[in-house]
Amino acid sequence: MTQPVIDVQNVTRELKLGNHTVHALRGVSLQIFPAEMVAIIGPSGSGKSTLLGIMGGLDSPTHGKLLIDGVDITRMNEDRLTEIRNEKIGFIFQFFNLIPTLTALENVALPIQFARQRRFNPQQRAKELLKLFGLADRAHHLPSQLSGGQQQRVAIARALANNPPLLLADEPTGNLDRESGEIVMKALQEIRETSGTTIILVTHDPGLAAQMDRTLQIVDGEVYQ
Ligand SMILES: Nc1ncnc2c1ncn2[C@@H]1O[C@H](COP(=O)(O)OP(=O)(O)OP(=O)(O)O)[C@@H](O)[C@H]1O
Ligand SMILES: [Mg+2]
Repeated sequence: MTQPVIDVQNVTRELKLGNHTVHALRGVSLQIFPAEMVAIIGPSGSGKSTLLGIMGGLDSPTHGKLLIDGVDITRMNEDRLTEIRNEKIGFIFQFFNLIPTLTALENVALPIQFARQRRFNPQQRAKELLKLFGLADRAHHLPSQLSGGQQQRVAIARALANNPPLLLADEPTGNLDRESGEIVMKALQEIRETSGTTIILVTHDPGLAAQMDRTLQIVDGEVYQ
């Protein structure tokens, strides 16, 4: 049987808020397989971002395990984990996190410049990605000179800069109109087809979820498949 890219095993995440405990995830188990496109849907506060952060090794479970390509990352030291994140994972944050002093092109090129093994020409690859996301004419704009939806597309391009096998996207089309949303979906499908990228995407948009292979629903920290 194919090995899952992501194997979430009975994960809980408890967060302390003063002397109150928030149960953001209550025993989640699921598997994601290579080149799958999976949507995660659910109400605000249900645990979607928390789950995505744990899948990407940005946050740790309180209990349970997370395996990436069969390797338990919950027992890994920070250096090795950082390496895995850099090699394998592209992360698109809910709030884009672009660097305000760098242009769109420079933001996308940055992860390529930082990669340990450089596989692409930073300028050239950044240009191609911006074009793919319909931003060829915005390459030299600063984030403050871009609309919210354009910034979001720059963040997507940046997450794909090093062609990661796994893309985790937290509401990547949340600020996009229908047309830009379609550009992004088409681009992601093309990337999955050409590179075999596994894509996990949090969304509030049922239309978008319907275009994925499968949808996971999360309600109050529990996942329904
Ligand atoms: N740092 C934190 N400290 C305490 N509680 C937190 C923290 N971060 C998140 N939470 C709580 O954990 C729960 C899950 O939050 P999460 O951000 O995963 O929700 P979400 O499904 O992504 O929501 P949204 O659709 O609004 O982005 C919420 O009840 C939230 O209030
Ligand atoms: Mg969220």
